[in-house]
Amino acid sequence: MRYFVITGHKAVTTGDFKLDDIAGGAGRLDILVRCVNSAFFLSHDLRKDVEIYLVLEGGEAAPKTVVFKGSELRYLNPDERSTASLIRNALLKPVKQGEEVRSSPGVYVTKMSFYDVLDLLAQKGEFVYLKEDGIDCRDYTFPENPIFVLGDNRDLTEEEEAALVSHSPDKICIGPHSLHADHCMIIVHNEADRKSV
Ligand SMILES: C[S@@+](CC[C@H](N)C(=O)[O-])C[C@H]1O[C@@H](n2cnc3c(N)ncnc32)[C@H](O)[C@@H]1O
Repeated sequence: MRYFVITGHKAVTTGDFKLDDIAGGAGRLDILVRCVNSAFFLSHDLRKDVEIYLVLEGGEAAPKTVVFKGSELRYLNPDERSTASLIRNALLKPVKQGEEVRSSPGVYVTKMSFYDVLDLLAQKGEFVYLKEDGIDCRDYTFPENPIFVLGDNRDLTEEEEAALVSHSPDKICIGPHSLHADHCMIIVHNEADRKSV
């Protein structure tokens, strides 16, 4: 399995945003939508061995985490608007602390915070922090079940980074430039594919 955790520092947690405004009023939800695309899409297939945890930290209902599970996913299309619609449908579902509510096949909403997500995933694999000052991913042996953690248009906050560090992640860099989160995901998938993880 491969897991991705991405923090949407301003991303909305209620479903009352307009699909035409995901880069504005929805708190840069467009970044997370593109990350969903990068997590799953191959040319003519979907990666079934991937889960992505979108940690939404904006608005009054924060935090919420929307989870996409490749093994169960249906109705995921490459366009941003329909993926944003899947997230909006998840956010419209009532959810209580400790619950995981399914909004469509393979899409779930929870009240988990970034810290809850780290605690949950700690039992499932090994954390790999994507960061510009990490070791070169080409010198790195990927673990069997990597849990890749990255920021949206901002890096993790100091508190988030400290919580991640407490789980002793490996820290890897994927190239000489600071890249968009969704582009990082494609590259790290490719590097892991080449090493046949
Ligand atoms: C758009 S960047 C965040 C802001 C960026 N650090 C800056 O200073 O402009 C989004 C995230 O992608 C990851 N990232 C970007 N470039 C990377 C690289 N070369 N190697 C590893 N991770 C990278 C980091 O997790 C970063 O928080």
